Amino acid sequence: MKKKLVGVILSLTMVASMLAGCGGAAADTAADTAATDTAATEEAAPAEAADAAEATAEAAGDADLADKKVGVCIYQFSDNFMTLFRTELENYLVAQGFSKDNITIADGANDQATQTNQIQNFIADGVDVLIINPVNSSSANTITDMVVDAGIPLVYINREPDADEEQRWADNNWNVCYVGCDARQSGTMQGQIIADLGIDKIDFNGNGKVDYIMIEGDPENVDAQYRTEFSVKALEDAGLEVNCLDDQVGMWDQAKGNELVANSLASYGDDIEVVFCNNDAMALGALQAIQSAGRTVGTDIYLVGVDALTEALEDVIAGTMTGTVFNDHFSQSHSAADAAIAYVKGGTNEHYIGCDYVKVTASNVQEILDMVK
Ligand code: BGC
Repeated sequence: MKKKLVGVILSLTMVASMLAGCGGAAADTAADTAATDTAATEEAAPAEAADAAEATAEAAGDADLADKKVGVCIYQFSDNFMTLFRTELENYLVAQGFSKDNITIADGANDQATQTNQIQNFIADGVDVLIINPVNSSSANTITDMVVDAGIPLVYINREPDADEEQRWADNNWNVCYVGCDARQSGTMQGQIIADLGIDKIDFNGNGKVDYIMIEGDPENVDAQYRTEFSVKALEDAGLEVNCLDDQVGMWDQAKGNELVANSLASYGDDIEVVFCNNDAMALGALQAIQSAGRTVGTDIYLVGVDALTEALEDVIAGTMTGTVFNDHFSQSHSAADAAIAYVKGGTNEHYIGCDYVKVTASNVQEILDMVK
């Protein structure tokens, strides 16, 4: 049974900047009343009165969702996590009353120009609401202007725009919001999974430090920035000394993760004690490289990811991954759909709608697997 795991956290802070490489990532980064256009009057002509009555019904939250059109933009269909997300999003929208034929999901193919074109087409098509996972979070300003100018409400997902952009939505009282989790929490959980092993179990080479490599997602994405920074910070906060041997950008991709970790293992060999990957896809690639190099997770090296992909959870059960962090695509997709529905019905949303990550280790992995399957 698929369940929504977590509640809503409200927060409005987020700015990030980043330096690639070891020594690494630095980051510092209403429910108003419904529309009040209820101008039905006795002297209105019958057709006008009917229109007004419909407007009143919509304002009261009775809009017939089956007739409403939703445009969804996903940054790239081949992304494992976003595939789980969009599948759940579509199913949930249909369960809430939208017609499947009125939900169009576009693949941005990791190209902002392609996605911008798709957004323009959705606007021309007169969609009632847009749900956008931007290719580049830094394009959010331009996207917002286009969509707001067209009078269409907008729900951003997964790739969070910066604090200035979010502030504009609040300042202008626009129907624009972001739904996602705070990536600092996921990084912290990754670090804690390793720190909880204790230095004696981690320090295979006996130098007193946690020698690690970091495989990052897209550096433009705040999830990558924060996971990189906060995983290491959690080790330091636990009083451990850290040593970054290598820090590479794997763009969330399994094949790249595999290649980069294979290279690192060739260069640094047995000195690598921990492999941090910003997501599970890259961790699955890393695992192949670790096994090809004759290393054994849990015995002479540790490996953590984020997302809780089924395959990664099975690896945690088998002991071939040390742990992962559940990136709750149920909660995020449902909250995004709920926010879209509120807009379609003439209501408003908080500008930031959050959710919690869940740490996954051998002790709770079966529970998480039962939930996501
Ligand atoms: C996920 C990654 C995914 C990325 C896409 C992250 O939150 O952890 O797996 O590739 O979002 O933007």
